[in-house]
Amino acid sequence: MGILPYIKPQDSGLAHEEFQPGGDRGLTKRVLFVCVENAGRSQMAEGFARAYGLNASSAGTLPAEKLNPVVVEAMKERGIALLGKPKMLTQQMIREADLVVTMGCSVEEVCPRPLVEQMEKKLVDWRIEDPKGKSLEEVRKIGAQIESKVMELLKIEQGAVTMRDLQSGSIEIGGARQEDLPDILALLDECELPKEGLAPHLSTTLVARDGNQIVGSSALEMYEEFALLRSVAVKPPFRGHGLGRRLTRAALDLAEHHQVRVVYLLTETAGAFFPKLGFKPIPRSSVPEKVQRSVEFTTLCPVTCKAMEISLTQQR
Ligand SMILES: CC(C)(COP(=O)(O)OP(=O)(O)OC[C@H]1O[C@@H](n2cnc3c(N)ncnc32)[C@H](O)[C@@H]1OP(=O)(O)O)[C@@H](O)C(=O)NCCC(=O)NCCS
Repeated sequence: MGILPYIKPQDSGLAHEEFQPGGDRGLTKRVLFVCVENAGRSQMAEGFARAYGLNASSAGTLPAEKLNPVVVEAMKERGIALLGKPKMLTQQMIREADLVVTMGCSVEEVCPRPLVEQMEKKLVDWRIEDPKGKSLEEVRKIGAQIESKVMELLKIEQGAVTMRDLQSGSIEIGGARQEDLPDILALLDECELPKEGLAPHLSTTLVARDGNQIVGSSALEMYEEFALLRSVAVKPPFRGHGLGRRLTRAALDLAEHHQVRVVYLLTETAGAFFPKLGFKPIPRSSVPEKVQRSVEFTTLCPVTCKAMEISLTQQR
């Protein structure tokens, strides 16, 4: 790991609070890291975030008396002095933050309900192991994990990812397995999308997994240089956090990987969603004949469905 750009020199004698968050990079997002004791994980995250120039603070729901000394030592090795005291989480802190990152403790368990409600829209959970009682070696590893996640946050500032992308970040997207088929079909049912004709395209179907649960899907039917995007679905409680966007992008990446030139789709319900990802409405008649012969075109989607396309040869 290289030298951090905004690390307070170890011997400067400056207290942590004396950092200039945001620094001369002009970073704007205010990030609040929350855990129970505010003695380890959230303090490390704040330290790294500030070191990388983010406007960061941290707090706990049951603050400890003092910082975890092993954490302080591990951060000192990285040139970051943690000199603050554990602080109590307040409603004002949450109000003022653009993004609240919980470090792995279940917020529902430790926070009063009104605080959770206030946080919900801007909440991300990082699921970081608690450094309490761990050796210096183990705490260094936890620190490295936190540092790489902090670097992800910088991508929001650079516009490379949105807050919503981050919020659905702990959900993994990957290829569907044969045994996933019943769950995918149940998801399509729940989302009122057609199930017929999907099974033969399982090898180009993607699923979003939250632990063992399938919470989203997208699939491609391949027609040589063309593909039909179908079955883009997100379980209702997981909607509105960027997962639909991620699943669509992942399907387009897969299409690109298969040297597809143009991806088509038909939709009745999400006519305003796909244009956000670069799809353009087209007359149904201009869809290539081999795609029009698909089950979705011939039997599943009524004529009221809108056809759209995206060219993968132009920049997305
Ligand atoms: C459409 C669907 C996949 C979107 O999933 P999602 O995870 O909620 O979407 P995201 O959070 O990634 O939303 C991305 C953007 O699209 C918008 N959006 C989401 N669903 C939308 C819809 N049905 N119509 C119009 N816009 C929509 C969001 O507001 C968001 O916009 P913003 O970034 O400007 O705020 C989901 O609503 C769904 O499963 N619907 C039922 C099945 C369906 O209609 N699938 C599409 C046909 S194949």
